[in-house]
Amino acid sequence: QNGGQIVLAHLIVVSTEGLRGHRNLWRARFHVDRIPQLPYFVLDQNKIKLRMNSMSNLTPTRADKFSFGLWTIGWAAQDQFGGPTRRNLDVVEAVEKLSELGAYGLTFHDDDLFAFGSTDAERQTQIDRLKKALADTGLIIPMITTNLFSHPVFKDGGFTSNDRGVRRFALRKALRNLDLAAEMGAKTFVMWGGREGAEYDSAKDIGGALQRYREGVNLMTSYVKDKGYDIRFAIEPKPNEPRGDILLPTVGHAMAFINTLEHPELVGLNPETGHEQMAGLNFTAGIAQAIEHGKLYHIDLNGQKGIKFDQDLVFGHGDILNAFSLVDLLEFGGPNGGRAYDGPRHFDYKPSRTEDFNGVWESAAANMRMYLLLKQRAAAFRADPEVKAALEASRVAEIHTTTLAAGETYNDLLADKASYEDFDADSYFDGRGFGFVKLNQLAIEHLMGAR
Ligand code: GCO
Ligand code: MN
Ligand code: MN
Repeated sequence: QNGGQIVLAHLIVVSTEGLRGHRNLWRARFHVDRIPQLPYFVLDQNKIKLRMNSMSNLTPTRADKFSFGLWTIGWAAQDQFGGPTRRNLDVVEAVEKLSELGAYGLTFHDDDLFAFGSTDAERQTQIDRLKKALADTGLIIPMITTNLFSHPVFKDGGFTSNDRGVRRFALRKALRNLDLAAEMGAKTFVMWGGREGAEYDSAKDIGGALQRYREGVNLMTSYVKDKGYDIRFAIEPKPNEPRGDILLPTVGHAMAFINTLEHPELVGLNPETGHEQMAGLNFTAGIAQAIEHGKLYHIDLNGQKGIKFDQDLVFGHGDILNAFSLVDLLEFGGPNGGRAYDGPRHFDYKPSRTEDFNGVWESAAANMRMYLLLKQRAAAFRADPEVKAALEASRVAEIHTTTLAAGETYNDLLADKASYEDFDADSYFDGRGFGFVKLNQLAIEHLMGAR
């Protein structure tokens, strides 16, 4: 069964390598010729059963909503220790190639498409070339963002530079780009304030800087409302890099800030995997909280190995366990096990500096394939009866039962002997384990393809 349709096929087993007997159940992974989208089967003595039948397609489609920043695949691989190792990528080639690979969207900063300081004519030429490429391929621009960090003018930030002239310039640049976002049909305007911060505590009045940040975001939201644009803003937290310390360093900081804005309903988050992990935080848990607050407007997926510089690896090439739980949450963590997030699956990664353009496109494809593989593994995890039993034993769903019954008051609780006087707290010593380790082992076995 594939996507609700019964697919009949002759299965030609070309390899039984690794076939192992285990009681009466046989498991094998077959290489099935010409049906690559059906890669996985469980064999018992009499029949071959399709496994993860509706989830087994690993070819990205537009419906998967995969998008890439032009600055990701277009990164010429310059870093602090050396110059570029690759040529610049033209936007038309980027659109064509992403479309071919199965992505649905391209995102960009103003300066990615037309260099800072371009004349109006140069700017328009690039916009027109992009529009034509989009029309030719069917790719869309789900998100646009503004570069307020590369040019020397932004060395102390954009919205929060100590220099008022720079702040006014930054607002003008961002407003102009907001018009472009509306023109391109982008629904999300990301604000990553990489230079909004400081190296030295004495150099920045944090309270004042937050007030100017708020002033800037309020200006943007009132502009969108006045113009009638169908655009929402997504703040992207990051703890450090390029600044020593960046304002709104984590999902939690940003969420608290959003609640102080004039139009909080127009402002949400664009959390990035690596940014939370750079701070030693659990990305899945942060995303879950953002979803619970209705603030996950966009997401930047990539890979990061622990607390160090922003690695921007391929999604899943860093903390794979966290990537697994994240995809499980996004795809199956919603009500009734459905999607918890419906927006773009946006990759903000860097093709490693070691790679030529073959490697660039390999890595772009790898991001999407990793996501789909993790989705497949998460589906298998969710469908496994042993997992269902383990979830039950761990009482995971019980968290949705309110602690007080409907209509129950604190007086009722105070009067309830079973909740206190007769409650056997001591039974939790040397007993009543939650079974979380068993559950986690099942998750990892599914992730590893061992089940
Ligand atoms: C980074 C950030 C950026 C932003 C981008 C979109 O660490 O460099 O992740 O890539 O996502 O500027 O606003
Ligand atoms: Mn990043
Ligand atoms: Mn990012």
